[in-house]
Amino acid sequence: MNFLNKKLQEISKLKSGVKRLTLTDYRNYKSLRINAEISPIIITGENGSGKTNILEAISFLTPGRGLRSSKLSDIKRIRSSEEINGLNTENAWSVAADILKNDEEISIGTAVQRVVRENTEDDDFHKFDRRIVKINQQKITQQSELGKYISAIWITPQMDRLFSGGPQPRRSFLDRLVYAFDLEHAKRTANFEHLYRQWFQLLKSGNRDVHWLQSIESDMASLGVAIAAARREQIARLNTFIENEPDDIFPDIRIELDGTVEKMLDTEPAIKAEDFYAENLAGQRNNVLYNDSVDGVNRTDFKVFLKKKNMPAELCSTGEQKALLISIILAQTKCQILNKGFTPVLLLDEVTTHLDDQKRDALLQKIYDLQLQAWITSTEESNFSLLQNKAQYFKIKDGKLF
Ligand SMILES: Nc1ncnc2c1ncn2[C@@H]1O[C@H](COP(=O)(O)OP(=O)(O)O)[C@@H](O)[C@H]1O
Ligand SMILES: [Mg+2]
Repeated sequence: MNFLNKKLQEISKLKSGVKRLTLTDYRNYKSLRINAEISPIIITGENGSGKTNILEAISFLTPGRGLRSSKLSDIKRIRSSEEINGLNTENAWSVAADILKNDEEISIGTAVQRVVRENTEDDDFHKFDRRIVKINQQKITQQSELGKYISAIWITPQMDRLFSGGPQPRRSFLDRLVYAFDLEHAKRTANFEHLYRQWFQLLKSGNRDVHWLQSIESDMASLGVAIAAARREQIARLNTFIENEPDDIFPDIRIELDGTVEKMLDTEPAIKAEDFYAENLAGQRNNVLYNDSVDGVNRTDFKVFLKKKNMPAELCSTGEQKALLISIILAQTKCQILNKGFTPVLLLDEVTTHLDDQKRDALLQKIYDLQLQAWITSTEESNFSLLQNKAQYFKIKDGKLF
């Protein structure tokens, strides 16, 4: 056994993942409790039975808006009019879990909280939903804290179009790869977006307070360069890993970042790049006025190539694209295990779709060998005959597990 596999096994021997999961008023589930005993966990059921909902709930144990990027208010279980009849209480969703991190048990709870803020100027009430998170019953203020205890990597059917569709989902995907390694990255991207909106609105409103604008541009530039540097580091890490540890079944790939600020860092030290980026933003103030796009880390994209054929991913077949995506995910998973010292949870929604039998079985075998926790959904139980009694099986019907 090579050094890499030995190291991976040493880490995954200490178990990490979700042990118990409890959903309350979560989408189609009034209340659901799952005990995970062995991995992989295979969830089967008809379309619309609630398979993805379970994976989504697990993704809410990590920072962000879950694997569907949902509005928090959409998750609360919609009750039938019969059920509401006579009740004057609102329901609220929550996800609670006991998780293991290297055999240590930790409890995580997350729920939504309605915040009502009084706006004194027009006596109006401003309402919004906020996600609250508790770790071992203690409320935490930064969701990024969760990353110290649990990490999840997911593949969903929407991602079948990751390479051929628009850049936004690709950029989010890229940033998720980064913040698994660099918890600050989530904060930086959120702060950058906040500043960008502020800058945009200021310019739109016709405000030409140069000092104010310059100060925002300078903050955007320093955050932007940090974001670009972290993205570069992660892509380099994955490319090097794939180069040194090619997979025997899933294709060799090369990932190329495509962004002006990222490119600038090829030749300029960070401090210079910040100055250039700030100047660059100042030079684009009119773009906002004329509704032209603004260049910078908000536009960064990446391209994936199938190395053997030097073929860009978007020109590959659907099945090939799925295999490329799995190559990225497998490399990311292994890098994460080595770097963070605990295994991530894999959430693989309908992952077997578009894969030929050989690749499907190879993927299942690799997941099994890695001994990490994987939650896999499918409409067909027959997809998993390779695993037989080496997996835990659940069937869902009418919001209940069997
Ligand atoms: N807020 C909600 N309240 C109740 N049911 C919901 C809510 N949001 C989605 N659903 C239901 O959940 C089901 C979809 O579950 P999903 O997990 O996507 O199914 P699948 O098993 O196909 O993955 C749909 O039937 C949908 O109507
Ligand atoms: Mg689904």
